[in-house]
Amino acid sequence: MAQPEKAGYISHSESTYYLKIGFHLEKMMMEHLAAIIPAMPDWAMKQALGLHQWQDSIHANELRVRTKELRGRPDKQVHPALSYIPVYLATAPNVRAMLAAIYESMKPRLVDLLQEQEKSVFPVHDAPTQHIMKQICTEEKEQIASIKLLERLSAELYNTPAWQPWYAACDQIIGELLVDVFRQSKTWTEQRHQEALRELVRLAPEQLELPASQAIRPENFQVQDRVSAPVNPSRREELIWQFGYGYLQEMQAAETLGSIMYEIKGMPWEFYLDLSRHLWDEVRHSTIGEVRLKEIGVALEEMKYMTGNYSWRQEIDAARRYITLTLVIEAGSFPLRHMRLKGHMELNDYLSAQAFLYDAADETMHVQYGRKWAPELMSRYRLGADLEALVQECREANDKRTFDNNREPGPA
Ligand SMILES: [Fe+2]
Ligand SMILES: [Fe+2]
Repeated sequence: MAQPEKAGYISHSESTYYLKIGFHLEKMMMEHLAAIIPAMPDWAMKQALGLHQWQDSIHANELRVRTKELRGRPDKQVHPALSYIPVYLATAPNVRAMLAAIYESMKPRLVDLLQEQEKSVFPVHDAPTQHIMKQICTEEKEQIASIKLLERLSAELYNTPAWQPWYAACDQIIGELLVDVFRQSKTWTEQRHQEALRELVRLAPEQLELPASQAIRPENFQVQDRVSAPVNPSRREELIWQFGYGYLQEMQAAETLGSIMYEIKGMPWEFYLDLSRHLWDEVRHSTIGEVRLKEIGVALEEMKYMTGNYSWRQEIDAARRYITLTLVIEAGSFPLRHMRLKGHMELNDYLSAQAFLYDAADETMHVQYGRKWAPELMSRYRLGADLEALVQECREANDKRTFDNNREPGPA
């Protein structure tokens, strides 16, 4: 019997397959962008990575949902070669190399795939897929352009030594591997994988620590973990205290979430979706601090930056780290938040009050994430069945080790 005429359109099963591949590539990029935020020395780049990893989580989710709508199974029968990509990325010598692998190799190839799919699906039957592809490609191209611009502006990244040979090899390997994946062929053997890995390790003089054990700040920023609250502060000093030593420092929370994203494997997709949003929120909270400081005439370079809380949290396991952040630190932050909000309202400080209102809405959601995922993390990592006891244990460790800048202004 003759094969049915394809009429130039790809089939239901092909479209479903590409959606699934797209989901896995976006998830992979989300995880790696989140993971390199602590090691990234450029401040604006940290903020861009926070946004992009969240956009990638939205892309991944749309591709996943559409895969399921077409009755595909996003987690089943995934092309085996895809699992090699994170192994290759883990050999990156530095953040500059990792950026190149993601923004110059993976993202443009994903855009090509999705654009090709957008042109070749049945325009009526598969219109929802077309719509998703168009949106994702527009955003991906914006991401690529913005990182190119930031790289040019960043002195820290401009002078990164010896990343190009590793990148050239990685780009070629990813290119060949993805051809295999896109064509649904299985020519990428274990032997080819081992050869590729050896080549990448040979070309990386050292390997980027993932996640970093310490959070990096730009060279012209001062790192200092203990800062005294101002005594009898003026209004300006109080705002600097609240926005500069409160909000601005929340980059550390984002960095902790980036490490958790990389370290905790095998949770349901929705966990990573929540984690990604949580991470981006913390980057935004830090930027809320930055924006408010600019409004009152304070430059970023005038501030001190804390990194010690990120460091000590890296010394505990990722599940306890997540519970400490959500169910100890964030859950316990509301009384001070409300008191400060009340103060801004009484003084008719609209800009400060609005910042606190939006922040409180985000933080309420973060505590809900913690309550939602703690039981599953506890059972997965065998942390017992008593959540309250674990939260208490985390609280005691946090009280002992945290550098706390969220005290009220007053005697130091
Ligand atoms: Fe926050
Ligand atoms: Fe938060």
